[in-house]
Amino acid sequence: MDVRVFESVSAVASGVADTIVRAVAEAPGAALALPTGRTPRAIYEELRRRREAERVSFARAHFFEIDEFVGVPASHPGSFAAYLRRYVFTALDFDASRIHLLDGTASDLAAECARFEGAIARCGGLDLLVLGIGMNGHIGFNEPGDTLTGPTHAVSLLASTRSDNAALFGGRAGDVPARALTMGVSTLLRAARILLVATGRAKADCVEKALAGPITARVPASLLQTHRAVEVYLDRDAASLLRVPVALVDRP
Ligand code: GLP
Repeated sequence: MDVRVFESVSAVASGVADTIVRAVAEAPGAALALPTGRTPRAIYEELRRRREAERVSFARAHFFEIDEFVGVPASHPGSFAAYLRRYVFTALDFDASRIHLLDGTASDLAAECARFEGAIARCGGLDLLVLGIGMNGHIGFNEPGDTLTGPTHAVSLLASTRSDNAALFGGRAGDVPARALTMGVSTLLRAARILLVATGRAKADCVEKALAGPITARVPASLLQTHRAVEVYLDRDAASLLRVPVALVDRP
């Protein structure tokens, strides 16, 4: 894996934004999947600045959501759809007809997942996938111990993940839905190019396990070691436990 360590959170955001902008400049109709969570907020802020300053356009790109809570409508402020509206779709000029969301309120979740996989396939697969990582090593909502070979599917969330996401539901872990839809690990691993992004000391342990530990369903992100084109963007804190060779990127 190509592991890049940056001096600061803003340098990580700038590095990831560079890569996203370059990918869309080279292939304006690219299929992108971008994550939710605290980590990518700085990336979206950086992309917003570049869109204004550099006239970057996402109008021809396809956007795919990575995961969503079950039973939570897109209008709910805790939904990932609401997050994406707030931080991505208001900042970047994605065309509404090319935004592909997962409907966690669908009456037939299996059919919804199949529909979503069909939409990815019609785009010829994901060109660029950006992932965060959960403290327990999850990617998307593929939790430790899940079946890690399938496509988009419904999962049960672990108590630790519900508590990590409590802020979206008034600070109460018990109000976080117990289930979610997520791109499966095979959906993720079929992406042509993957960027994994992590910042902060709290992520150092799961980053070390994902990049340098054994490939195991106990750490879903460790399956990224089997992909041929993964770039890892870390700040010094997130890289602090790493024992693999890394490239130090010197940016202000
Ligand atoms: C969430 C999401 C993931 C995200 C991860 C890390 O639960 N399902 O897609 O990458 O956890 O989030 P954060 O960046 O807030 O630590």
